[in-house]
Amino acid sequence: MAISPELRRRFAESQRVLVLTGAGVSAESGVPTFRGGGNSAVWKGMPFDVISSAAMLERNLPAVWEWFDYRRDFMEELMPNAAHYEIARWQEQFPEFTVVTQNIDGLHQKAGSRDVVELHGNIWRARCVACRSTYDMASGEKRPAACRECGDSLRPDVVLFGELLPPGAFELAAERAAECELCIVIGTSGLVYPAAGLPEIAKSAGAFLCEVNPEPTPLSPICDEMLMGKAGEVLPLLRS
Ligand code: APR
Repeated sequence: MAISPELRRRFAESQRVLVLTGAGVSAESGVPTFRGGGNSAVWKGMPFDVISSAAMLERNLPAVWEWFDYRRDFMEELMPNAAHYEIARWQEQFPEFTVVTQNIDGLHQKAGSRDVVELHGNIWRARCVACRSTYDMASGEKRPAACRECGDSLRPDVVLFGELLPPGAFELAAERAAECELCIVIGTSGLVYPAAGLPEIAKSAGAFLCEVNPEPTPLSPICDEMLMGKAGEVLPLLRS
């Protein structure tokens, strides 16, 4: 795969770098993507955006828990892939480095990435529907039956369709996007906003925009460079 001298120079010289990742960065770890490849996830006959919605949470919290318990059990065995490890290495290379992810799988952190901005929450946490207290459910820990602070119900600490992003997460990501010199967009279809707006913010602030994806996306036309391939195979090629 050809990588332009311009991208190599930017990769070698940039101080402020932002990476935005989507489901594609975890595909090589075995996490199914939502849209790439033409099909979309279905659970018990319900499309993923129905079971993963605020409306379903209102109507049937146990069903939502069943879906996320299934996904958590499925993800328990999954390990980061070369793309996650490469991104974790970059935090040592770039003085100001930000990882923003739409993924809830926690694989960036498992690969060693610190201070990951999680736009859509994390499947390994539960949150109180009332006081927003959170409970870590890292591997194997059973979630409490109710909130230990206020006694109200717990829900998955993930952003469901129809819900707002976690307070401050997008604002921080947008701030970093507006400041970065190099923005690398990895494994996202660029269809879900406001996350898909971050590369546009970086581009309009003058950053060099690079996309890594086996398929073109609606973001591709604004990118300075497209590396069409799998993240786990492409990212190590950026090493000088
Ligand atoms: N490497 C890089 N990209 C890949 C790979 C890979 N190995 N395999 C697939 N892709 C690309 C696909 O071509 C597709 O463009 O990853 C993208 C995955 O797109 P989606 O499934 O739409 O995932 P994402 O963009 O993260 O979805 C955004 O939508 O469903 C909600 O909340 C959910 O966070 C998710 C959000």
